[in-house]
Amino acid sequence: MSADPHRLLRHPGPIDAYPLEPSNEGLAASVGLPVERIVRYDLNTLGGGPLPGVRGAWEEWDPAAAVEYGDLAYRRLREAIGATIGVAPHRIIPGAGADELIRLVTTSVIGPGDGVVIAAPTFPMFAVEAGLAGARVHAVTRDHPGTRQTPDAIRSRVEATGSRLAWICSPNNPTGDAHPLAELRHIADGLEAIVTVDQVYLEFAEASGASGLDAIGLQDELDNLLVLRSMAKAYGLAGARIGYLVVPDALAERFDALRLPLSVGAATEALALGALADASAADRHRAIVAERDRLAGALRSTGCEVLDGLGNFVTFRPPDAARLAAALLARGLVVREFPATGPMAGWLRATARAADENALLMAALAEELG
Ligand SMILES: Cc1ncc(COP(=O)(O)O)c(C=O)c1O
Repeated sequence: MSADPHRLLRHPGPIDAYPLEPSNEGLAASVGLPVERIVRYDLNTLGGGPLPGVRGAWEEWDPAAAVEYGDLAYRRLREAIGATIGVAPHRIIPGAGADELIRLVTTSVIGPGDGVVIAAPTFPMFAVEAGLAGARVHAVTRDHPGTRQTPDAIRSRVEATGSRLAWICSPNNPTGDAHPLAELRHIADGLEAIVTVDQVYLEFAEASGASGLDAIGLQDELDNLLVLRSMAKAYGLAGARIGYLVVPDALAERFDALRLPLSVGAATEALALGALADASAADRHRAIVAERDRLAGALRSTGCEVLDGLGNFVTFRPPDAARLAAALLARGLVVREFPATGPMAGWLRATARAADENALLMAALAEELG
């Protein structure tokens, strides 16, 4: 036995890992409720249960497919995704959730000592992966969650720090706002760095009637721009684990060589194909967006400050965030809290779920906020 096997690892010291989400069972036990009473408004998953196309694909799936390895080239999957988003299949790099692709981008672009610019506050995994890679994070942080950084502020930080990678989330989690394409172009055009735009909430923005946000079109002119998408949120496949990276033509072959050979399993692939073939997905997105607006309106009427978001969630500032989150949890309703310091201090985020699930939350909010 060696004295401490940590010394054999590349990161022998403490690491800043993604904080593990508490399980439904753990949350239920913490407030003494049966687990069936727990409803998650903290994970931005798709309210209303699986899409019919996903359920159908599950029922038809033959587990014989699990015995053999699948198609390492993901031909059918890439074709189906490509047909949905209007991109040639070879530019699509599938992975086990957007998270795997955040790691792929990070390890493909940066290493120890390199700089990474992150427009913050945002999804924590960009910084987690940068830290694991030994890179230095340069956060360009908003003063107020509702006021987006200027494209100049982001671009000039990349230039000033000589960073090799920048992360932008559009629509942004947790603030819900999105960068118009002109802003993304201003940030990335001619920049000596890879700019990755996380668009895992784009489908909800489009269902909100917002147009001109899809960054994929920019890749024809910007060959340093990557676009990250997920099927976790809009297609209800968070547990199946599937996301994809869209890369410009010039980087397609390289990213195909850099990815894991087969991280999307056969069952997940079948569910993804079912979801992509389901024409009712867009109706679900519109229904969720209507619920989001209803929830936002209800929160505004209680006097909370509410951000105008384009995702499937509402970000709001109640009089006492910690007290409200605890009171909701005592009823089994879990909302997202944020660190006690920084721009999100005092704010909460709640996923807009299906009408019946939202009714539960709105009734509880009305009682707690008077
Ligand atoms: C902005 C953003 N990007 C990526 C992810 C991760 O997505 P996936 O479940 O596909 O790994 C999330 C999940 O919350 C997210 O909010």
